Amino acid sequence: MLATQGFHSFIEQHRLSLKLRPILVGELYLARKLEHPVYIFKNGFFYPVINEGSVPSKDQINALIKNSHKEVYVYPSDVVEIKKNLETALVKVTRSLSVGDPLENGTKDMKLLSLNLSGLYQNPHSDEMLMLQFQSTQNLSKFLLENKKFQPYFYQNLIRENFHFTLSQPMLSSVLLLSFLQSIHLFHDKEVENLFLASYLKDIGISMIPGDKYDLKTLTTRDQELFANHADFSFDLLEGRVPLSKNYLTIIKHHHFLNDKMKDLLQRDKKKMKDPEIIFGIESTLVSVFDILVAMTSERPYRKSMSLYQSLELIKKMMADDYPQEFRALVVFLKQFYKN
Ligand SMILES: [Fe+2]
Repeated sequence: MLATQGFHSFIEQHRLSLKLRPILVGELYLARKLEHPVYIFKNGFFYPVINEGSVPSKDQINALIKNSHKEVYVYPSDVVEIKKNLETALVKVTRSLSVGDPLENGTKDMKLLSLNLSGLYQNPHSDEMLMLQFQSTQNLSKFLLENKKFQPYFYQNLIRENFHFTLSQPMLSSVLLLSFLQSIHLFHDKEVENLFLASYLKDIGISMIPGDKYDLKTLTTRDQELFANHADFSFDLLEGRVPLSKNYLTIIKHHHFLNDKMKDLLQRDKKKMKDPEIIFGIESTLVSVFDILVAMTSERPYRKSMSLYQSLELIKKMMADDYPQEFRALVVFLKQFYKN
């Protein structure tokens, strides 16, 4: 049971709602001495759970996670301090990935990168934050290629962190993509690296969508439009700001092209599917396939997850006609990857 330490008056509650800002529970690991208490939001009220002047302990953080709290609320001065510590930690681990224990370094790097991604969603126009994500991801791709045998471990470990899917999905789909591309030996390391970056950054356009929309069961037409346009938003946010060539930015812009095909399949629509206006290559197809695979095999607040087998049945319909060999290689690869 989580110890809440008192309830503030209604006036004080109102003041807190104006002052406090949400952070992810995992970010509390980066907190040093807190200037103010940490709050949870429950049944419409803020309750303090960690005292001012203290350093959040592992037990306190674990208790919050155990009680299904994904976010906590802190004062702006503590947010600034925590975000600064997070960036410092990410820079440090990114620069020394190859020094010391690879399992520990890779695990830590992927966790910090995913936590830091929430900061980029909040400040998508910050060049500094975007470049930190870009360079850290670039270094991580080299590290992952050098540490092939640990890829399944890193993947499973990130799933266990139980981050919101907007933070975990970019990394999970990109790790699977990189691992598959490495296994089929058709691409140079530099191409794999760029595809890893394109895959990881493809969803930063969701930063243009209000956070409370992600977990809704039903969306208004306006919200559906926003979601449908997130790939365009990603392209607009990245063009001219990251050193990725047009080819990779185009992959980002169209990374949902297979989803329309999937919607028709899921709705068992008998009408003939429209031919795409652009011919998509194997790179675009694979970026899209791994995105769909990770999404389908993970649970959402509004739907259950599908099994790997069920997901592959759908993916088969989406890609096997155009890329039969690659689809067969994908099945073999996934069996091996999930066995490890
Ligand atoms: Fe997407």
